[in-house]
Amino acid sequence: MEKQFTFTELPVTIDSEVVTSVYLQAHHASEPQPVALLKLELDPEGNPGWIGPLFVVENWRSCGLGSKLLAQAFELARRAGLKTVGLSVNRKNEGAQRLYERLGFLPYITGQEGYKQLIKVL
Ligand SMILES: CC(C)(COP(=O)(O)OP(=O)(O)OC[C@H]1O[C@@H](n2cnc3c(N)ncnc32)[C@H](O)[C@@H]1OP(=O)(O)O)[C@@H](O)C(=O)NCCC(=O)NCCS
Repeated sequence: MEKQFTFTELPVTIDSEVVTSVYLQAHHASEPQPVALLKLELDPEGNPGWIGPLFVVENWRSCGLGSKLLAQAFELARRAGLKTVGLSVNRKNEGAQRLYERLGFLPYITGQEGYKQLIKVL
């Protein structure tokens, strides 16, 4: 199954040179639209890179795509010189929190109501 996915990186730039964020997409040969998407914001000031949204189309969950896009985002952030990445997760989204904990995210600060922010050292 893994072999049938292809991955693309779409950088967003300011003044055609500074990359401020990157969209990572996963495609499957059988689907006309991407089956998963992650946005990584890169902060040149050295603040944590910021991940979100992260979304995998329902039929394609539990195939490892979320983990794979997150691993790609960590690598991109490292290459951009960042030391940490963060994200915000709904407290009720226990499945996503399990995934993030498994990948090394730690509680950071209390986010907006109903959300918590997690951080990972790269
Ligand atoms: C969370 C999400 C991105 C995970 O993507 P994925 O491709 O299924 O993740 P992987 O296959 O790499 O890993 C599976 C793990 O994801 C987590 N998960 C969260 N919601 C899940 C769901 N609806 N179905 C399957 N796994 C889910 C679980 O931890 C699961 O591990 P488990 O089998 O031990 O429970 C995906 O379920 C999704 O898009 N959910 C809806 C949007 C969302 O909640 N985004 C995160 C917002 S912070």
